[in-house]
Amino acid sequence: MAADTRSVPASGARPDVFGDVPRRPGAPKADAILVADHVTRRFGGLTAVDVDHLEVQRGAITALIGPNGAGKTTLFNLLTGFDRADHGTWTFQGRRISGLPAYRVARSGMVRTFQLTRTLPRLSVLDNMRLGAGQQRGENAWRALVPGIWRSQENEVTERAEQLLRRFNLDRLRDDLAGTLSGGQRKLLELARSLMAEPTMVMLDEPMAGVNPALTQSLLEHVKQLRDEGLTVLFVEHDMDMVRDVSDWAVVMAEGHLVAEGPPADVMADPAVIDAYLGGHHDAPRTEADEQAQLAEAESEIETELSGPAHDDEADRDHEAEGADDGAAVTTDHDEEGTR
Ligand SMILES: Nc1ncnc2c1ncn2[C@@H]1O[C@H](COP(=O)(O)OP(=O)(O)OP(=O)(O)O)[C@@H](O)[C@H]1O
Ligand SMILES: [Mg+2]
Repeated sequence: MAADTRSVPASGARPDVFGDVPRRPGAPKADAILVADHVTRRFGGLTAVDVDHLEVQRGAITALIGPNGAGKTTLFNLLTGFDRADHGTWTFQGRRISGLPAYRVARSGMVRTFQLTRTLPRLSVLDNMRLGAGQQRGENAWRALVPGIWRSQENEVTERAEQLLRRFNLDRLRDDLAGTLSGGQRKLLELARSLMAEPTMVMLDEPMAGVNPALTQSLLEHVKQLRDEGLTVLFVEHDMDMVRDVSDWAVVMAEGHLVAEGPPADVMADPAVIDAYLGGHHDAPRTEADEQAQLAEAESEIETELSGPAHDDEADRDHEAEGADDGAAVTTDHDEEGTR
């Protein structure tokens, strides 16, 4: 009687891994790939993030939802090393990564994309992709002295970039400047680029925002496909239809705290969640001024990074946490305007 083994939801979710997970914030998961404890971040008098405990299930798509200003992006920034927490520790695949700079977090297998895309407008699509391979062997300073190794690495990187561009239907744009792409295409490019690092987990901050309906469907399919290939996905999204369609589990954040967790449909049907956290004001657009400020910050970051080429010791690769870094570049980086 095998008929029932196919009773998975349309998204391809695997409900079994969430079967015994309690429906409450901070719930323990059967196989957590990311575990965070007591993470706080204050900006002046404002506590933007105050997360007691969070576990993200491996191999599933988890949506992080909540109203504007809930702290979702700040939490992403902290976990991926783009901002420093005031307190807190977190582990990825059992290794402590709290305190690591962004490029080392990425190297450990956890990459992220940005709410406002950060493709480099004056570089071609293909070059943007190549930059995403940030932590591969070609960047290692002394290996680079051996041209044969370096060149074969270059070829590998280009090949992988081309493969991913084909997969994301961007191959015909490979020689175009990224700045000429539509907002949706840039979102796709950013997702494709994040995969250059061959991650285990991708964190997507509003991947669908500003994307037209045709591309949205394509993005959704890509995200599901990543999960089906075994990657873990954590994504922030305001569009509840998309959350329902694509995610296996939903975590709700409000005023810096986790306030609910559960299967997306249950969480979204919870009147307390709807009223208190999602009512009416959850999809207000970011202001022009916000976008400009973020752009300026991104531009100065990229300037710094481009002025000092990234290199690093491969021995670093398996290092445990503890800060020390050599100032090399991050991976899924950089500038360019928002798409909303
Ligand atoms: N660099 C910063 N300096 C001061 N305050 C900040 C900074 N970054 C974020 N904040 C504040 O922290 C809070 C959380 O912001 P965050 O961007 O993380 O929210 P969010 O949940 O991602 O919202 P949205 O859905 O609008 O993207 C907000 O009140 C925001 O104004
Ligand atoms: Mg945000």
